[in-house]
Amino acid sequence: MLVDTHCHLGAGQFDDDRVDVVERARASGVEHVVVVADSEPATQLAIALADQFDFSATAGVHPHEASSWNAEVAAKIEEALEDPAVVAVGETGLDYHYDHSPRDRQRAAFAAQLEFGEKCDLPVVVHARSADEDVAAMLRDTRSTYILHSFSSGPLVLDTALAAGAYVSFSGMVTFNSWKDVDAVRAVPLDRLLIETDAPYLAPTPHRGRRNEPAFVREVARKVAELRGQDPEEIAERTTQNAVRCFGTRITGNEPL
Ligand code: NI
Repeated sequence: MLVDTHCHLGAGQFDDDRVDVVERARASGVEHVVVVADSEPATQLAIALADQFDFSATAGVHPHEASSWNAEVAAKIEEALEDPAVVAVGETGLDYHYDHSPRDRQRAAFAAQLEFGEKCDLPVVVHARSADEDVAAMLRDTRSTYILHSFSSGPLVLDTALAAGAYVSFSGMVTFNSWKDVDAVRAVPLDRLLIETDAPYLAPTPHRGRRNEPAFVREVARKVAELRGQDPEEIAERTTQNAVRCFGTRITGNEPL
């Protein structure tokens, strides 16, 4: 069994064939998907999809959308965090590469969502790009559990996360020829390792350049196993156990592993 711990199943790229995408995932052994939200409307859609497919959802606002963060949105996200389908806050974080929202607005939305994680005792899904110093400083200040999603940061962020016992999730980026950070893939302890697709983005080799989908998380598991010198089956098993420890037993249909 595999878990795709980060998939934007609500994205418009899946509107024409979402049911087929889920069937292909299940047929290839991907039995659970964490449907990740990036805005308040996407949070409501993620919850609806989690209910429809017996998956789970996150509730939160992406740094790209941080300009939309206000008291009303915050209240709606906090209410969504009470939904039984919701297993994490996010995705949130800082993205100084695209700067789609002003950096002060990104930091405010990130800080508020880290507080939600602490308050609701839910893990926080962190998106970090080209903002290592600020991300590390804010993560050092939180008591919340968190996941560095689609890890592509430098050693400062990685070391901060590992020191805090946080989870680190790798995406299809590790299958690209341009991926140079083998050390990071090897540095994460086996009980803190997660895998994801970040679909519809970042399709792994040999699907690169096309739409990504949750079935392809198998390619990520295979490459992570290769880089770590471990058996792909062991990586599948351990990352699934980690997903249950991190997100809760909804991942396995409330059955113990
Ligand atoms: Ni994402």
